[in-house]
Amino acid sequence: MTKPLTILGLESSCDDTAAAVLRQSGDDAPEILASIVYGQTELHAPFGGVVPEIAARAHAEKLDLSVQEALSAANLSLSEIDAIAVTSGPGLIGGVLSAVMCAKGLSAGLNIPLVGVNHLAGHALTPRLTDQVTFPYLMLLVSGGHCQFLIAHGPEKFTRLGGTIDDAPGEAFDKTARLLGLPQPGGPSVQKEAEAGDPKAHRFPRPLLDRPGCDMSFSGLKTALLRARDAIISEKGGLTIKDRADLCASFQAAVVDVLAEKTRRALEVYMAENPSEPLLAVAGGVAANSAIRARLETVCAESGAAFTAPPLALCTDNAAMIAYAGLERFKSGARDDMGLSARPRWPLDQTAPALLGSGKKGAKA
Ligand code: KG4
Ligand code: ZN
Repeated sequence: MTKPLTILGLESSCDDTAAAVLRQSGDDAPEILASIVYGQTELHAPFGGVVPEIAARAHAEKLDLSVQEALSAANLSLSEIDAIAVTSGPGLIGGVLSAVMCAKGLSAGLNIPLVGVNHLAGHALTPRLTDQVTFPYLMLLVSGGHCQFLIAHGPEKFTRLGGTIDDAPGEAFDKTARLLGLPQPGGPSVQKEAEAGDPKAHRFPRPLLDRPGCDMSFSGLKTALLRARDAIISEKGGLTIKDRADLCASFQAAVVDVLAEKTRRALEVYMAENPSEPLLAVAGGVAANSAIRARLETVCAESGAAFTAPPLALCTDNAAMIAYAGLERFKSGARDDMGLSARPRWPLDQTAPALLGSGKKGAKA
């Protein structure tokens, strides 16, 4: 029997400091022995977005602690770790550097291999960690920082079919909440309000549906919402509870329609490759939205593809996904050394044209 491989993963590319320990014996399903995440929401809340300098400092302060906690939760010592995987991009550079430097120190001090991981690959490979899905599968990453369709062909081989050219949907939910005086993060609060609203009360734009392809745009939606809000306020002097619910429901309906139609198109491209077990996986905080999930499930059923979404804790930023992506690279023989650099931008599909725009959480990659 081969010795199990135990890998420590580190993540600090945005506003979560995370460490995780993953173990795999042979080709068995990998086991998450520990996954620790320190969020920074309160630190950035007064500024209405992630402040890179504050994020980097908080990562530097919390990384050692999260490694210690992960080891203690896994009941292991550093000497029992076989390799270190670290997010080396894309993301806010000060944050990425924090974990890269920490990982280099551990690798040099313990004399164990170091593997740099693309953060987006971490998200995109999560369905293999949670459900052992086989390549090729279609992935929709949809969060506060990312929005793109990828066909995953292999651990380091992705084809991007399209993505947002401006805001990510999570940003649009957050901005909508801000415009309507709802608490952050905006996604859950807007979803909750929307449940009592009429999705047809306002006809908000469905951007880029008139153009071919899978690119998306969400920044115009908030302008439309702002205009509708101001029109109601100037007519009635304020918003009623029903007005707010209608605005949320109509906004959410627009996001759902755009994601559904673009997913249908992405599935068409993917299914043309005749995958033996066609599957769409979603990841990212916005994948928690029940209206979005339900519509995507319907689109998949109509296209003859299965649908999966990893548990929420593994959909949002975490280090277990980085340890897993590192494990896949490690097993394929990849190794990095002290020359590993932190990269602010690092598209998964190097052949696809660069997307425009950079969100509040850093480059869209
Ligand atoms: O993946 P995530 O935790 O962080 C990154 O952006 O990387 O995603 C957070 C985003 C926030 O913008 C939040 O408003 C959104 O996911 N979100 C939701 C829901 N829950 C979280 N958006 C829509 N509906 C939800 N239920
Ligand atoms: Zn992420």
